[in-house]
Amino acid sequence: MSVLLTGGLGYIGSHTAVEMLEAGEEVVIIDNLSNSDKKVTNAIKEITGKDFKTYIGDVRDEKLLRKIFKKEGIDAVIHFAGLKAVGESVKKPVEYYDNNIGSTVALLKVMKEYGVKNFVFSSSATVYGKAKKMPIYEDFEIGGVTNPYGRTKYFIEEILKDLYVSDNSYNIALLRYFNPIGAHDSGLIGEDPNGIPNNLMPYITRVATGKLECLSIFGNDYKTKDGTGVRDYIHVVDLAKGHVKAVKKLRGNCGLKVYNLGTGIGYSVLDIVNAFNDVCGGKVKYKFAPRRAGDIDECYANADLAYKELGWKAERDLKDMCRTSYNFEQKHSK
Ligand code: NAD
Ligand code: UFG
Repeated sequence: MSVLLTGGLGYIGSHTAVEMLEAGEEVVIIDNLSNSDKKVTNAIKEITGKDFKTYIGDVRDEKLLRKIFKKEGIDAVIHFAGLKAVGESVKKPVEYYDNNIGSTVALLKVMKEYGVKNFVFSSSATVYGKAKKMPIYEDFEIGGVTNPYGRTKYFIEEILKDLYVSDNSYNIALLRYFNPIGAHDSGLIGEDPNGIPNNLMPYITRVATGKLECLSIFGNDYKTKDGTGVRDYIHVVDLAKGHVKAVKKLRGNCGLKVYNLGTGIGYSVLDIVNAFNDVCGGKVKYKFAPRRAGDIDECYANADLAYKELGWKAERDLKDMCRTSYNFEQKHSK
């Protein structure tokens, strides 16, 4: 049986494809290349030495989905495909609802037609909004989201819960990612955003390689140890391995499960910059700038449930996250 990875040529999807193939799974990818490159297919093949099928197309295209389900013997789906830029989602809410929710609904309809009931969803720590205390557990209240992107994640979680109530023979894992950074050790795949990056690590790597001048640290007056924002950064390879475990769990008929995928450690922006400068020899210049609208002081997980139930925990440290991010930027980005 094969696992369908929607958005499998993107940042997290490509790393998951590698880990799935290396775990002996058959993989099929669908991606519309809206935020990725066809060349990633070859990179995944080069890393793993394994072959797999890639369909270039949109997950909202039900006709194409039917063709894939008919042909490929899919027994589980990992749904990465979606738009993910918070700021852009405020400007283009309809596109975000259409793409993120539309693709999920199309998938669920076609999965039903073909009797496929194992589903992993790429959710986000964003669904917790501004949590009242740290660390964040899976049973904390969700829904206090402040932008359309976050709302798509919350709404999709609710759709999947409704689906499970209607038919509890489904197996669904809602994986709430914290802040994925880092890249594959090979430097062949990684995060390569178009234009000026919104997220911290891609901005840092571009300052380190001279493509951007100076990092602006958004706020140094938060209620944190050094005043800068604190997040739970997780190596993308660790995150990818979590998906391999989640698919195994689904196949054991687990019902609906929610897991935080993070390290459980909160690092500040300054921690990240300092760790990165250790790796790259001090090339990251920074200045303090005003807070970014919508940012919260801190956000980090308790990830014990994933360890207890999936046997998964993050193993790579901050130095490894910085080293591999830098390696990828030096080798491969535009
Ligand atoms: P990404 O943009 O690198 O990957 C998403 C992939 O989906 C891209 O290759 C894109 O071309 C494809 N895609 C988008 N819409 C599509 C559609 N309608 N049909 C087919 N393909 C489509 O993003 P990523 O960082 O790999 O994120 C993967 C998932 O994880 C997303 O759902 C994202 O919201 C979620 N997530 C990401 C983060 C993060 O910080 N990276 C955090 C939490 C959750
Ligand atoms: N930051 C800077 N300068 C920058 C970019 C970011 O100081 O140029 C700071 C932010 O203020 C924040 C931290 O670095 O304190 C991390 O910011 P990111 O933009 O990298 O990540 P966020 O925590 O804001 O958001 C990310 C994803 C969201 C997701 C969320 C939770 O972008 O999509 O993690 O998973 F919802």
